[in-house]
Amino acid sequence: MKAPPEAHPPLPAALAALTGQGVAAIDTPAAVIDLDAMERNLARMAAFARTHGVRLRPHAKMHKSAFLARLQMQAGAVGVCVQKTSEAEALSAAGVTDIYISNQVIDPAKLRRVAALAQRLQAAGGRLAIAVDSLEGIARLAAAVESHTTSGQALLDVFVEIDIGQGRCGVPPGEAAVTLAQAIAAQPVLRFAGLQAYHGRAQHLRGVDERREAIARAARAVQDTRARIEAAGLAVPLVTGAGTGTFALETASGAWDELQAGSYLFMDADYAANAHDPAQPAFEHALFIKSQVISVNAAHAVCDAGHKSHAIDSGLPRVHALPGQGALSFANGGDEHGILHSVAGDGKLAGATGPALPALGDVIWLIPGHCDPTVNLHDHLIGVRGGLEHGTVERVIRVDARGALT
Ligand SMILES: Cc1ncc(COP(=O)(O)O)c(C=O)c1O
Repeated sequence: MKAPPEAHPPLPAALAALTGQGVAAIDTPAAVIDLDAMERNLARMAAFARTHGVRLRPHAKMHKSAFLARLQMQAGAVGVCVQKTSEAEALSAAGVTDIYISNQVIDPAKLRRVAALAQRLQAAGGRLAIAVDSLEGIARLAAAVESHTTSGQALLDVFVEIDIGQGRCGVPPGEAAVTLAQAIAAQPVLRFAGLQAYHGRAQHLRGVDERREAIARAARAVQDTRARIEAAGLAVPLVTGAGTGTFALETASGAWDELQAGSYLFMDADYAANAHDPAQPAFEHALFIKSQVISVNAAHAVCDAGHKSHAIDSGLPRVHALPGQGALSFANGGDEHGILHSVAGDGKLAGATGPALPALGDVIWLIPGHCDPTVNLHDHLIGVRGGLEHGTVERVIRVDARGALT
């Protein structure tokens, strides 16, 4: 007889043996988490939410890990967001019980999986929520849930997604959202939970003033939509949204009740290029790609991490110089290689008289441009305690929802 699949297959032996060893034992390229920096980010975000009386539901599409989701919930998060049905299934299978799919699901077969998961989570004392942006989507969701509920009672919370500037999913703020809220409320098996309002484009506007203006406009749209739904006789229990670039602005506006920021935990190079808003905590880089120099010539060195190790949609990684190391720039060397040049004090590429290139075998730490798609390239994240230079591997973190794209 065939053995049933294990929810948690054992770690490969080489990875299991890493725990307790120094960073030098980590083979390259590898995704490494500086656990001390990550825990400071975790605590700063949790403290922000607590102090400002706003709920925190971090986006787990960033780390795709049940261990990290549970850590966030232990620190005060009410649950996590995901973007895909299969991400929700993977995290739930690994023990996460409060999950919000902050996205549209329209395929009937997938909606039946959503309904089945909602039932499993509810039976386990947890909950599932989802967003919608069409009457057709609501009808399909209701049909899927009806086929799964025996009691006829609501199985999941449903948010109406409004487009507040992202130009992606969502109906325009205002009357279109009222129509959808009423359509949800008319379905006995669904519960109208409020508004999904996420302004993705505002997250990476570099200037604080630009971000402030974008979120001020979005807040007016949210408040107007909320007032219209309430005028139609429906309570709006919650407005949820916001990301790492703007969450202090959504919070200050008073229009949002729940924050969905995700990247704050690892903090990538692209977010670090935003001008810092003093109203929000400063976050540290916690996700690194450990890489090794495999070739050196007169002009450059080559490391063993290319864009199969890190995403490049938001720019190439930055090289993280450890104390005593010279500055290096990273150029695209393709799938498996990175080209390193040394950088002079004036920021220009150094010539023959500039700082020396790293030597064969030297370790290079990269800060990825975009954390979410970088994590999705790795099965495991190696958690290091005590710093990148002299630290020790404390735990290997499974990327439970790696490749969960459906
Ligand atoms: C719907 C939604 N909410 C929240 C976030 C979190 O943003 P970040 O990881 O940039 O903090 C994202 C990211 O793309 C998103 O798509």
